[in-house]
Amino acid sequence: MNTLSELMGSKGVELYRRAKALMPGGTQLLSKRPEMFAPEVWPSYYSRAKGCRVWDLDDREFIDMSIMGIGACIIGYADDEIDAAVTEAIQRGVMSSLNCPEEVELAEALIELHPWFDMVRYARSGGEAMGLAVRIARAYTKRDVVLFSGYHGWNDWYLAANLADEAGLDGQLMPGLEPNGVPRGLTGTAIPFDVNDIESLRQTIKGKEREIAAIVIEPARGAEASEECLSKLRDIASEIGAVLLFDEITSGYRMCAGGIHRRYEVYPDIAVFAKSMANGYAMAAIVGTEEVMQAAQTTFISSTNWTDRIGPVAALATLDRYQRANAQDHLIDSGEQMKQIWRDAAATSGLEISISGLPTLPGFGFEHEAAMELGTRFTIEMLRRGFLGFRQFKPALAHGQAELDAYRAAAKDVFAVLAGLSEADLLETPVAHSGFHRLTKE
Ligand SMILES: Cc1ncc(COP(=O)(O)O)c(C=O)c1O
Repeated sequence: MNTLSELMGSKGVELYRRAKALMPGGTQLLSKRPEMFAPEVWPSYYSRAKGCRVWDLDDREFIDMSIMGIGACIIGYADDEIDAAVTEAIQRGVMSSLNCPEEVELAEALIELHPWFDMVRYARSGGEAMGLAVRIARAYTKRDVVLFSGYHGWNDWYLAANLADEAGLDGQLMPGLEPNGVPRGLTGTAIPFDVNDIESLRQTIKGKEREIAAIVIEPARGAEASEECLSKLRDIASEIGAVLLFDEITSGYRMCAGGIHRRYEVYPDIAVFAKSMANGYAMAAIVGTEEVMQAAQTTFISSTNWTDRIGPVAALATLDRYQRANAQDHLIDSGEQMKQIWRDAAATSGLEISISGLPTLPGFGFEHEAAMELGTRFTIEMLRRGFLGFRQFKPALAHGQAELDAYRAAAKDVFAVLAGLSEADLLETPVAHSGFHRLTKE
């Protein structure tokens, strides 16, 4: 078992102290900040990763039962087949003055999966792809206002919602996002709505129907949106001439290959994919109807690294691997087992928790006034037992029964430890952050 002082003295913890002096915010992604898990204890950096295992800078091995590359690695880390396809692409050249044929092959594969779409553009990350999709929607409609629900990344179009109301984004997954640097002139161009309250959406748009460029939603996150709501949104978008845009960056590939909206009979005008579509390689796709997508030619959307070969090759290999393994069945089963593991461990220990999320994106929270302290200590105790453990689990094909069984035993043990602690003994280290906080330079 790892000791707390070994974990706190790791090379990764030390390197992160240096990182915070060199990089504002310490990391490139809020969700990978050690402060989100267990400040001053979380290993922070990896030296290698394989399957569902990672090794820290001290070569300490952990089974990753947490966010699996924040959902990007749906097959598993360093998958042999996907990496072999990428390695071959590297050997044949990932960039040249000509284009790579795989971008056409991938477009055909994505349209075959979603036959209501006709055309595709690419980017290399989620927030960037959403920026591109919103630009296309605005170009197509020649309108400015975007109605949205959910989290959609770091872009100006999205953070503009907090110019009008600094808590505008608070119900949309990540509280506390500051819009500094976003032009004030964008005030009123992004309006949040509750996807389950279509009536108040109708009230919001009354009189402004002809200003709305797009209705942007995540078709699933904590839960799948009801097909009835989605279909009402489809009707509203069609009535007012706005683009219906599904952000499938997190929901995509979770419950089936491609978009979760393949499970419903509601067809958006555009869907956006990133993250798991390429098992961690940088790739994003904007897929849509010809009528809307052709608007990309009426504005300027162009970038050198959107032509690299690795992204499309990795996306094709990921899709092939996913479909041959029927990965969704494994992901659903693993996620449901995890919910049961938490439920059982909580019941045995007497601690109260709430469990939420799609079967393939499960999470839990302690129902306690010291919830964040308990969550932080949970992560620390799981680290001591050799797991990256968090209040979320993003299953991958690489999670086998052996790992789930080992986790079950460790979680039971940890819940019992937590239940036996007095509040004074709960935490010797700083408590984890629950949303966006500015980091102070040490
Ligand atoms: C639904 C959704 N949209 C957009 C994004 C932003 O994607 P990225 O982090 O690749 O920029 C995310 C990332 O978590 C997401 O979940």
